[in-house]
Amino acid sequence: MINVGILGATGAVGQRFVHLLADHPWFCLHTLTASERSAGKRYADVVNWRLDVPFPESVGDLTISPTTADAVKDCDIVFSALPADVAQGIEEEVAAKGVGVCSNASSHRMDPDVPLVIAEVNPDHLGLIDVQHDRGRDGFIVTNPNCSTIMLTLALEPLRKFGFSSVQVATMQAISGAGFNGVAAMDIYDNVVPFIRNEEEKMATEPRKIMGSFDGSGVEMAPFLVSACCNRVPVIDGHTLSVWVDIDRPLEEVRKAFSEYAAPFSGLPTQPAKSVEYFDQPDRPQPRLDRNRGRGMTVSVGRLREGVRFTALGHNTIRGAAGASVLNAELIYMKKYL
Ligand code: A2P
Repeated sequence: MINVGILGATGAVGQRFVHLLADHPWFCLHTLTASERSAGKRYADVVNWRLDVPFPESVGDLTISPTTADAVKDCDIVFSALPADVAQGIEEEVAAKGVGVCSNASSHRMDPDVPLVIAEVNPDHLGLIDVQHDRGRDGFIVTNPNCSTIMLTLALEPLRKFGFSSVQVATMQAISGAGFNGVAAMDIYDNVVPFIRNEEEKMATEPRKIMGSFDGSGVEMAPFLVSACCNRVPVIDGHTLSVWVDIDRPLEEVRKAFSEYAAPFSGLPTQPAKSVEYFDQPDRPQPRLDRNRGRGMTVSVGRLREGVRFTALGHNTIRGAAGASVLNAELIYMKKYL
Protein backbone atom coordinates (compact mmCIF):
# COMPACT_ATOMS: atom_id res chain seq x y z
CA MET A 1 0.00 0.00 0.00
CA ILE A 2 0.95 3.61 -0.61
CA ASN A 3 0.85 5.87 2.45
CA VAL A 4 -0.97 9.11 1.82
CA GLY A 5 -1.65 12.27 3.81
CA ILE A 6 -4.04 15.22 3.50
CA LEU A 7 -2.95 18.81 4.13
CA GLY A 8 -5.95 20.82 5.34
CA ALA A 9 -8.09 17.74 6.06
CA THR A 10 -10.82 19.58 7.97
CA GLY A 11 -12.02 22.02 5.25
CA ALA A 12 -14.70 21.47 2.58
CA VAL A 13 -12.31 19.90 0.05
CA GLY A 14 -10.25 18.21 2.81
CA GLN A 15 -13.36 16.32 3.95
CA ARG A 16 -13.99 15.15 0.39
CA PHE A 17 -10.42 13.84 0.31
CA VAL A 18 -11.01 11.99 3.58
CA HIS A 19 -14.19 10.44 2.21
CA LEU A 20 -12.51 9.32 -1.06
CA LEU A 21 -9.41 7.94 0.67
CA ALA A 22 -10.90 6.30 3.78
CA ASP A 23 -11.39 2.93 2.03
CA HIS A 24 -9.17 3.31 -1.00
CA PRO A 25 -7.89 0.04 -2.52
CA TRP A 26 -4.36 1.37 -3.25
CA PHE A 27 -3.83 4.24 -0.80
CA CYS A 28 -3.68 4.07 2.99
CA LEU A 29 -4.65 7.22 4.88
CA HIS A 30 -1.69 7.87 7.18
CA THR A 31 -1.58 11.57 8.16
CA LEU A 32 -4.14 14.37 8.41
CA THR A 33 -3.08 17.97 8.99
CA ALA A 34 -4.89 21.22 9.73
CA SER A 35 -4.11 24.55 11.41
CA GLU A 36 -2.54 24.92 14.86
CA ARG A 37 -6.06 25.36 16.20
CA SER A 38 -6.91 21.72 15.35
CA ALA A 39 -3.49 20.02 15.74
CA GLY A 40 -3.15 17.39 18.48
CA LYS A 41 -6.88 16.62 18.54
CA ARG A 42 -8.80 13.58 17.23
CA TYR A 43 -10.18 14.13 13.73
CA ALA A 44 -13.68 13.13 14.89
CA ASP A 45 -13.56 15.72 17.70
CA VAL A 46 -12.55 18.60 15.46
CA VAL A 47 -14.24 18.11 12.15
CA ASN A 48 -17.68 19.52 11.50
CA TRP A 49 -18.73 16.87 8.95
CA ARG A 50 -20.98 18.63 6.44
CA LEU A 51 -20.94 16.23 3.48
CA ASP A 52 -23.98 14.35 2.18
CA VAL A 53 -22.22 11.02 2.85
CA PRO A 54 -21.67 9.21 6.19
CA PHE A 55 -18.62 10.11 8.28
CA PRO A 56 -15.95 7.42 7.75
CA GLU A 57 -15.58 6.08 11.30
CA SER A 58 -12.23 4.42 10.49
CA VAL A 59 -10.66 7.89 10.20
CA GLY A 60 -12.18 9.40 13.35
CA ASP A 61 -9.38 8.28 15.70
CA LEU A 62 -6.51 9.75 13.66
CA THR A 63 -4.78 12.59 15.50
CA ILE A 64 -4.49 15.80 13.49
CA SER A 65 -0.91 16.92 12.87
CA PRO A 66 0.24 20.50 12.36
CA THR A 67 0.66 21.48 8.70
CA THR A 68 4.44 21.05 8.42
CA ALA A 69 6.65 19.18 5.96
CA ASP A 70 7.95 17.06 8.83
CA ALA A 71 4.45 15.84 9.71
CA VAL A 72 4.02 14.17 6.29
CA LYS A 73 7.58 12.98 5.63
CA ASP A 74 6.55 9.29 5.92
CA CYS A 75 3.88 9.63 3.24
CA ASP A 76 4.44 8.69 -0.41
CA ILE A 77 1.76 11.09 -1.64
CA VAL A 78 0.24 14.10 0.06
CA PHE A 79 -3.01 15.71 -1.10
CA SER A 80 -3.31 19.43 -0.52
CA ALA A 81 -6.61 21.14 0.29
CA LEU A 82 -4.98 24.18 1.85
CA PRO A 83 -5.88 27.80 1.13
CA ALA A 84 -3.61 28.99 -1.73
CA ASP A 85 -1.55 31.40 0.38
CA VAL A 86 -0.74 28.65 2.92
CA ALA A 87 -0.15 26.00 0.22
CA GLN A 88 2.54 27.93 -1.68
CA GLY A 89 5.50 27.38 0.66
CA ILE A 90 4.51 24.19 2.43
CA GLU A 91 3.94 22.24 -0.81
CA GLU A 92 7.47 23.09 -1.96
CA GLU A 93 8.90 22.01 1.40
CA VAL A 94 6.98 18.72 1.25
CA ALA A 95 8.13 18.02 -2.33
CA ALA A 96 11.73 18.82 -1.33
CA LYS A 97 11.53 15.97 1.21
CA GLY A 98 10.93 13.44 -1.57
CA VAL A 99 7.15 13.30 -1.21
CA GLY A 100 4.75 13.59 -4.17
CA VAL A 101 2.22 16.43 -3.75
CA CYS A 102 -1.13 16.29 -5.55
CA SER A 103 -2.56 19.72 -4.98
CA ASN A 104 -5.98 21.23 -5.39
CA ALA A 105 -4.58 24.65 -4.41
CA SER A 106 -4.01 27.26 -7.11
CA SER A 107 -0.54 28.46 -6.01
CA HIS A 108 1.60 26.26 -8.31
CA ARG A 109 -0.82 25.61 -11.19
CA MET A 110 0.87 27.94 -13.65
CA ASP A 111 4.52 27.15 -12.65
CA PRO A 112 6.26 26.12 -15.91
CA ASP A 113 7.59 22.83 -14.49
CA VAL A 114 4.41 21.86 -12.61
CA PRO A 115 1.85 19.81 -14.53
CA LEU A 116 -1.74 21.07 -14.43
CA VAL A 117 -3.58 17.85 -15.13
CA ILE A 118 -7.05 16.51 -15.82
CA ALA A 119 -6.32 12.78 -15.98
CA GLU A 120 -8.47 12.14 -19.05
CA VAL A 121 -7.32 15.24 -20.96
CA ASN A 122 -3.54 15.63 -20.63
CA PRO A 123 -2.00 12.59 -18.90
CA ASP A 124 1.17 13.15 -20.99
CA HIS A 125 1.88 16.38 -19.04
CA LEU A 126 2.85 14.18 -16.07
CA GLY A 127 6.19 14.03 -17.91
CA LEU A 128 6.90 17.34 -16.17
CA ILE A 129 7.54 15.25 -13.04
CA ASP A 130 10.79 14.14 -14.71
CA VAL A 131 11.61 17.79 -15.43
CA GLN A 132 11.14 18.59 -11.72
CA HIS A 133 13.44 15.69 -10.79
CA ASP A 134 16.06 16.87 -13.32
CA ARG A 135 15.95 20.30 -11.66
CA GLY A 136 16.74 18.76 -8.28
CA ARG A 137 13.36 18.33 -6.62
CA ASP A 138 13.30 14.96 -4.80
CA GLY A 139 9.52 14.63 -4.80
CA PHE A 140 7.11 16.42 -7.13
CA ILE A 141 4.12 18.74 -7.31
CA VAL A 142 1.18 17.92 -9.61
CA THR A 143 -1.84 20.21 -9.62
CA ASN A 144 -5.45 19.88 -10.73
CA PRO A 145 -7.34 22.87 -12.11
CA ASN A 146 -9.97 25.16 -10.68
CA CYS A 147 -13.38 23.47 -10.32
CA SER A 148 -15.14 25.30 -13.18
CA THR A 149 -12.09 24.84 -15.42
CA ILE A 150 -12.38 21.06 -14.91
CA MET A 151 -16.04 20.98 -15.98
CA LEU A 152 -15.35 23.19 -19.00
CA THR A 153 -12.17 21.47 -20.19
CA LEU A 154 -13.45 17.93 -19.74
CA ALA A 155 -16.61 18.88 -21.67
CA LEU A 156 -14.46 20.38 -24.46
CA GLU A 157 -12.17 17.34 -24.68
CA PRO A 158 -14.49 15.27 -26.96
CA LEU A 159 -14.65 18.31 -29.31
CA ARG A 160 -10.90 18.94 -29.40
CA LYS A 161 -10.54 17.01 -32.69
CA PHE A 162 -12.77 19.58 -34.45
CA GLY A 163 -10.51 22.49 -33.45
CA PHE A 164 -11.82 25.76 -32.01
CA SER A 165 -10.41 29.22 -31.38
CA SER A 166 -12.93 30.83 -29.06
CA VAL A 167 -14.90 29.62 -26.04
CA GLN A 168 -17.45 31.67 -24.11
CA VAL A 169 -18.81 30.41 -20.83
CA ALA A 170 -21.22 31.60 -18.14
CA THR A 171 -21.02 29.69 -14.87
CA MET A 172 -23.63 29.10 -12.17
CA GLN A 173 -21.49 27.93 -9.26
CA ALA A 174 -22.54 26.17 -6.07
CA ILE A 175 -21.94 27.68 -2.66
CA SER A 176 -19.90 24.69 -1.38
CA GLY A 177 -17.11 25.97 -3.64
CA ALA A 178 -16.79 28.96 -1.35
CA GLY A 179 -15.73 26.75 1.61
CA PHE A 180 -17.87 26.10 4.67
CA ASN A 181 -18.40 29.76 5.40
CA GLY A 182 -20.06 29.91 2.01
CA VAL A 183 -22.32 26.94 2.70
CA ALA A 184 -23.38 28.30 6.08
CA ALA A 185 -24.10 31.74 4.72
CA MET A 186 -27.72 32.10 3.74
CA ASP A 187 -26.96 35.57 2.28
CA ILE A 188 -27.19 33.98 -1.14
CA TYR A 189 -30.67 32.51 -0.69
CA ASP A 190 -32.98 34.12 -3.29
CA ASN A 191 -29.95 35.77 -4.84
CA VAL A 192 -27.10 35.55 -7.39
CA VAL A 193 -23.65 37.01 -6.79
CA PRO A 194 -22.04 37.95 -10.13
CA PHE A 195 -18.47 37.88 -8.80
CA ILE A 196 -16.09 35.10 -7.70
CA ARG A 197 -12.58 36.27 -6.91
CA ASN A 198 -9.98 35.31 -9.56
CA GLU A 199 -12.34 32.75 -11.11
CA GLU A 200 -12.70 34.33 -14.56
CA GLU A 201 -8.92 34.80 -14.79
CA LYS A 202 -8.33 31.12 -13.92
CA MET A 203 -10.85 30.01 -16.54
CA ALA A 204 -9.12 32.15 -19.16
CA THR A 205 -5.67 30.62 -18.59
CA GLU A 206 -5.94 27.13 -17.09
CA PRO A 207 -7.76 25.40 -20.01
CA ARG A 208 -5.06 26.70 -22.37
CA LYS A 209 -2.28 25.14 -20.28
CA ILE A 210 -4.18 21.83 -19.92
CA MET A 211 -4.87 21.60 -23.66
CA GLY A 212 -1.41 22.91 -24.53
CA SER A 213 1.23 20.73 -26.18
CA PHE A 214 4.01 19.14 -24.12
CA ASP A 215 7.37 18.58 -25.85
CA GLY A 216 9.16 16.76 -23.03
CA SER A 217 10.52 19.89 -21.39
CA GLY A 218 7.66 22.40 -21.23
CA VAL A 219 4.05 23.17 -22.18
CA GLU A 220 3.07 25.55 -24.95
CA MET A 221 -0.29 27.15 -24.22
CA ALA A 222 -3.11 26.18 -26.63
CA PRO A 223 -4.02 29.15 -28.86
CA PHE A 224 -7.79 29.38 -28.17
CA LEU A 225 -9.35 32.17 -26.09
CA VAL A 226 -11.72 31.65 -23.18
CA SER A 227 -14.05 34.41 -22.02
CA ALA A 228 -15.86 33.60 -18.76
CA CYS A 229 -18.62 35.21 -16.67
CA CYS A 230 -18.76 33.54 -13.24
CA ASN A 231 -21.73 33.65 -10.89
CA ARG A 232 -22.45 32.21 -7.43
CA VAL A 233 -25.98 30.79 -7.23
CA PRO A 234 -27.98 29.23 -4.36
CA VAL A 235 -27.17 25.58 -5.16
CA ILE A 236 -25.37 23.52 -2.50
CA ASP A 237 -23.26 21.25 -4.74
CA GLY A 238 -22.75 21.17 -8.52
CA HIS A 239 -21.50 23.81 -10.94
CA THR A 240 -23.54 24.41 -14.12
CA LEU A 241 -21.91 26.00 -17.19
CA SER A 242 -23.49 27.46 -20.33
CA VAL A 243 -20.87 27.12 -23.06
CA TRP A 244 -20.49 28.59 -26.55
CA VAL A 245 -17.69 27.24 -28.77
CA ASP A 246 -16.91 28.19 -32.38
CA ILE A 247 -17.14 24.79 -34.02
CA ASP A 248 -18.45 24.87 -37.57
CA ARG A 249 -19.63 21.25 -37.86
CA PRO A 250 -23.06 19.63 -38.23
CA LEU A 251 -24.68 19.28 -34.83
CA GLU A 252 -24.99 15.53 -35.37
CA GLU A 253 -21.18 15.19 -35.44
CA VAL A 254 -20.86 17.12 -32.18
CA ARG A 255 -23.55 14.94 -30.57
CA LYS A 256 -21.73 11.82 -31.72
CA ALA A 257 -18.43 13.10 -30.32
CA PHE A 258 -20.01 13.67 -26.90
CA SER A 259 -21.89 10.34 -26.89
CA GLU A 260 -18.94 8.22 -28.01
CA TYR A 261 -16.24 9.85 -25.88
CA ALA A 262 -14.23 7.40 -23.75
CA ALA A 263 -11.35 8.12 -21.37
CA PRO A 264 -7.89 7.16 -22.70
CA PHE A 265 -7.33 4.67 -19.83
CA SER A 266 -9.37 2.32 -17.65
CA GLY A 267 -9.08 0.56 -14.33
CA LEU A 268 -8.42 3.47 -11.97
CA PRO A 269 -10.45 3.13 -8.74
CA THR A 270 -11.87 6.68 -8.78
CA GLN A 271 -12.55 6.70 -12.51
CA PRO A 272 -16.25 6.85 -13.44
CA ALA A 273 -17.76 4.53 -16.06
CA LYS A 274 -18.25 7.66 -18.18
CA SER A 275 -16.10 10.75 -17.69
CA VAL A 276 -18.44 12.68 -20.01
CA GLU A 277 -22.09 11.67 -20.26
CA TYR A 278 -24.34 13.13 -22.93
CA PHE A 279 -28.07 13.83 -22.42
CA ASP A 280 -30.57 14.29 -25.24
CA GLN A 281 -33.42 15.52 -22.98
CA PRO A 282 -33.98 19.27 -23.35
CA ASP A 283 -33.91 19.99 -19.60
CA ARG A 284 -30.75 18.10 -18.57
CA PRO A 285 -28.26 18.19 -16.97
CA GLN A 286 -29.40 19.70 -13.65
CA PRO A 287 -27.47 19.83 -10.33
CA ARG A 288 -29.95 17.93 -8.17
CA LEU A 289 -30.51 15.22 -10.76
CA ASP A 290 -27.02 14.79 -12.16
CA ARG A 291 -24.23 16.00 -9.83
CA ASN A 292 -23.71 12.55 -8.29
CA ARG A 293 -23.42 10.63 -11.56
CA GLY A 294 -20.35 8.37 -11.58
CA ARG A 295 -20.03 8.93 -7.79
CA GLY A 296 -19.63 12.64 -8.51
CA MET A 297 -16.86 12.09 -11.10
CA THR A 298 -18.89 12.38 -14.32
CA VAL A 299 -19.28 15.66 -16.18
CA SER A 300 -22.76 15.70 -17.74
CA VAL A 301 -23.41 17.60 -20.97
CA GLY A 302 -26.62 18.34 -22.80
CA ARG A 303 -28.86 21.08 -24.18
CA LEU A 304 -26.81 20.87 -27.36
CA ARG A 305 -27.85 23.31 -30.08
CA GLU A 306 -26.55 25.34 -32.99
CA GLY A 307 -23.87 27.84 -32.15
CA VAL A 308 -22.37 25.44 -30.92
CA ARG A 309 -24.02 25.88 -27.52
CA PHE A 310 -24.36 23.35 -24.70
CA THR A 311 -24.70 22.96 -20.92
CA ALA A 312 -22.11 21.16 -18.76
CA LEU A 313 -22.46 20.15 -15.12
CA GLY A 314 -20.28 18.48 -12.51
CA HIS A 315 -19.89 18.03 -8.76
CA ASN A 316 -17.58 20.85 -7.74
CA THR A 317 -15.92 19.37 -4.65
CA ILE A 318 -15.63 15.82 -6.11
CA ARG A 319 -14.96 16.03 -9.89
CA GLY A 320 -13.94 19.68 -9.53
CA ALA A 321 -11.52 19.23 -6.62
CA ALA A 322 -10.72 16.22 -4.39
CA GLY A 323 -11.82 13.53 -6.86
CA ALA A 324 -9.78 15.10 -9.67
CA SER A 325 -6.71 15.11 -7.45
CA VAL A 326 -7.16 11.48 -6.33
CA LEU A 327 -7.64 10.40 -9.96
CA ASN A 328 -4.38 12.18 -10.84
CA ALA A 329 -2.61 10.30 -8.01
CA GLU A 330 -3.98 6.99 -9.26
CA LEU A 331 -2.68 7.77 -12.74
CA ILE A 332 0.72 8.74 -11.30
CA TYR A 333 0.82 5.42 -9.46
CA MET A 334 -0.28 3.46 -12.55
CA LYS A 335 2.40 5.21 -14.64
CA LYS A 336 5.00 4.24 -12.00
CA TYR A 337 6.15 7.73 -11.05
CA LEU A 338 6.25 6.58 -7.39
P1 A2P B 1 -8.53 24.34 10.32
O1 A2P B 1 -9.82 23.62 10.15
O2 A2P B 1 -7.79 23.89 11.54
O3 A2P B 1 -8.66 25.85 10.22
P2 A2P B 1 -10.41 26.69 4.85
O4 A2P B 1 -11.66 25.95 5.17
O5 A2P B 1 -10.21 27.93 5.65
O6 A2P B 1 -10.22 26.91 3.38
O7 A2P B 1 -9.20 25.75 5.32
C1 A2P B 1 -8.94 24.58 4.65
C2 A2P B 1 -8.03 23.71 5.48
O8 A2P B 1 -6.76 24.34 5.65
C3 A2P B 1 -8.53 23.41 6.88
O9 A2P B 1 -8.17 22.08 7.18
C4 A2P B 1 -7.78 24.38 7.75
O10 A2P B 1 -7.57 23.90 9.08
C5 A2P B 1 -6.45 24.45 7.03
N1 A2P B 1 -5.76 25.73 7.26
C6 A2P B 1 -6.28 26.96 7.10
N2 A2P B 1 -5.35 27.90 7.38
C7 A2P B 1 -4.22 27.25 7.74
C8 A2P B 1 -2.91 27.66 8.15
N3 A2P B 1 -2.58 28.95 8.25
N4 A2P B 1 -2.01 26.70 8.44
C9 A2P B 1 -2.34 25.39 8.33
N5 A2P B 1 -3.54 24.94 7.95
C10 A2P B 1 -4.48 25.85 7.66
